[in-house]
Amino acid sequence: MFKVLQEVNDRPAPFQFYTADELWTNEHTSKHMLEYHLNESIDASSRKKSFIERSVRWIVSHFKVDKNTEIADFGCGPGLYTTRLAERGAIVTGIDFSNNSLMYAKQVAAEKGLNINYVLTNYLDFETIDSFDLITMIMCDFCVLSPERRKEMLIKFNSLLKPDGSVLLDVYSLNSFNQKEESATYELNQLNGFWSPDDYYCFVNTFKYEKEKVILDKYTIIEETRKRVVYNWLQCYSKDSIINEFGENGFKVEELYADVAGKAFSSESTEIAIVAKKS
Ligand SMILES: C[S@@+](CC[C@H](N)C(=O)[O-])C[C@H]1O[C@@H](n2cnc3c(N)ncnc32)[C@H](O)[C@@H]1O
Repeated sequence: MFKVLQEVNDRPAPFQFYTADELWTNEHTSKHMLEYHLNESIDASSRKKSFIERSVRWIVSHFKVDKNTEIADFGCGPGLYTTRLAERGAIVTGIDFSNNSLMYAKQVAAEKGLNINYVLTNYLDFETIDSFDLITMIMCDFCVLSPERRKEMLIKFNSLLKPDGSVLLDVYSLNSFNQKEESATYELNQLNGFWSPDDYYCFVNTFKYEKEKVILDKYTIIEETRKRVVYNWLQCYSKDSIINEFGENGFKVEELYADVAGKAFSSESTEIAIVAKKS
């Protein structure tokens, strides 16, 4: 018991483990995730419907999206952006490794008669001969990746963009980092059975890494016959650190906003949205 509690409370090195698939593609959790995505009134997994509609209106006008615009949405989930962008005429590819989310997205596309290219794969492995006018990665999914994976992602974005193409993505700001407190709690069937259909105890340890500006929510899920650990990392950024990271990887950040709906950037905002082009 003492040893297990030690493991539960153990602080790993930043980005030591990558367990995104356990969070998003596990048969049980991915069903709950889809419910969160589709819940129009909460900002979990996807943002609220009102925000998404505002965001798509802004994207369409800002990037002059029309029937010739080729867009790739990395981590598209159930297609809440891809569907709307395709409805505006864009040529859209959605990439995600959640089969459950993509099945939903494909069904919506079929019902609406939309031709969207959905690709079920880890976005780090995505390859195509197509090139894009706009690449999006929305709801701070860039922040969950280690520095090495983010580099890989930016190299991939760079190779997939047309010469004048843009990347639009959002990240957590240092205000998000500062607002978060370290904590350690546990609960029976935490998140209403999110982690398993069977009873479990879930220990949630939140760690902060001051130097790296990284937050970790570590979930240790203990069932009668198995124990799993899921790590949710969040890299937080200052305005300068996101500009530098893109700069070091072949991009120039051209615009900064407070969100992907074009809200003016402010030093108070908890997120930073950026528009970058190849340098
Ligand atoms: C926070 S959700 C955002 C979904 C969507 N962008 C939105 O805002 O509605 C992150 C999405 O990225 C997907 N994802 C996470 N890591 C991935 C990976 N390595 N490869 C492919 N998809 C991934 C998840 O399945 C999930 O659909």
